[in-house]
Amino acid sequence: MDFKLSKTHLLQQEMYRRFAVNEVKPLAEEMDETEVFDMELLKKMHKYGLMGIPYSKEYGGVGGDYLSYALAMEECSKMDGSTGITISVHTSLACSCVDNFGTEEQKQKYLRPMIDGSKTGCFGLTEPNAGSDAAGCQTTADYDAETNEYIINGGKIFTTNSGFTDTFIVFALTDKTKGSKGLSAFVVDREMEGVTVSENIKRMGIRAASNCEVSYENVRVPAERRLGKEGQGFKIAMKALDGGRIGIAAQAVGLAQGAIDEAMAYVKERKQFGRPISAFQTTQFKLADMQTKVDAARLLTWRAACVKDAGENYSKEAAQAKLFASDVANQVCREAVQLMGGYGYCREYPVERALRDAKITEIYEGTSEVMKMVISGAMKVNAK
Ligand code: CAA
Repeated sequence: MDFKLSKTHLLQQEMYRRFAVNEVKPLAEEMDETEVFDMELLKKMHKYGLMGIPYSKEYGGVGGDYLSYALAMEECSKMDGSTGITISVHTSLACSCVDNFGTEEQKQKYLRPMIDGSKTGCFGLTEPNAGSDAAGCQTTADYDAETNEYIINGGKIFTTNSGFTDTFIVFALTDKTKGSKGLSAFVVDREMEGVTVSENIKRMGIRAASNCEVSYENVRVPAERRLGKEGQGFKIAMKALDGGRIGIAAQAVGLAQGAIDEAMAYVKERKQFGRPISAFQTTQFKLADMQTKVDAARLLTWRAACVKDAGENYSKEAAQAKLFASDVANQVCREAVQLMGGYGYCREYPVERALRDAKITEIYEGTSEVMKMVISGAMKVNAK
């Protein structure tokens, strides 16, 4: 067992760190204030390969592994949670569905453009009445044998990235009588008639990330855009979310580490009662606790990524990493604000944004309660 990153991973980490410091950090505060993701930054994320890390060079990807992807997620999220989720939804949700279940032809047509930077992707699973109960989707896809098309009708909510993306992975019922086994996955183009993207939903955190309702009204989707078989949609979504949860765990680690870094700098400068506040044992012990928790969360995240990279089943490890790291991120960001007192509460200090951003890591890509369902299910707690 080796807890150290390889030389290659260290170099990649350094490269992602430089990108995050030089390109993401200067924009983060303004993007949060305006609630708009910078499209020039998105272009650069594509250009520097951040949107295709774990995908084969054959399709224009970087050919890296999931650990490398987790490192990128941590470094970018250290500077900005919104940038983290923009990468995550595109990479581990949208692209992975095509990579895992697409035919060679579909990969050339739909995966390659998402990786070479000409298109960006999003993932439409959640509906107003189907959140944690993902199998409760009501959006339908009726097959029209005459035209060999599916006609999609319904509405999705909280579709991250949908304000600017071109490619939508949409989950819809091809058989309403079969529940989760009646769900199928489709690659839908933004330009298709009947696709309507609403205004950005106003949120507490990750405010620069795009997040909209999307309605599908009689959207005619050629059958060749269906991923996998009819009825395989639930498994396609779950598999994507397993990978996505590693990304969110890394995002949570990044938010927490970023908050520690800010607080460390502050406590050395800030003087009260005639001394820097770093000289007080309460400050030292608080930071010791914070860093220990973040290191543990990072190790769980790296373990999940390594299990995935080894080609083994990683659902439980991904859920454990996300459950723990998201809790740690909330605790640590709150403590960082506390250490920085009134200044930490001000919007011009990044810890205030990190605290708001951290909350969502306990909710999206499966709530903490869903993570416990996945973990206890894998442990077979309820089995005879
Ligand atoms: N991989 C492959 N297959 C899986 C699987 C996985 N991880 N998890 C379950 N399945 C399969 C099961 O094996 C089962 O198949 P069989 O019947 O053939 O055995 C089938 O799927 C149904 O499984 P369950 O009975 O366990 O399903 P369930 O209805 O009880 O749901 C759940 C389980 C874990 C709660 C699941 O619904 C879930 O993960 N919910 C959360 C959804 C979620 O994360 N949503 C976030 C959406 S994206 C987002 O956040 C927005 C964004 O853009 C960031």
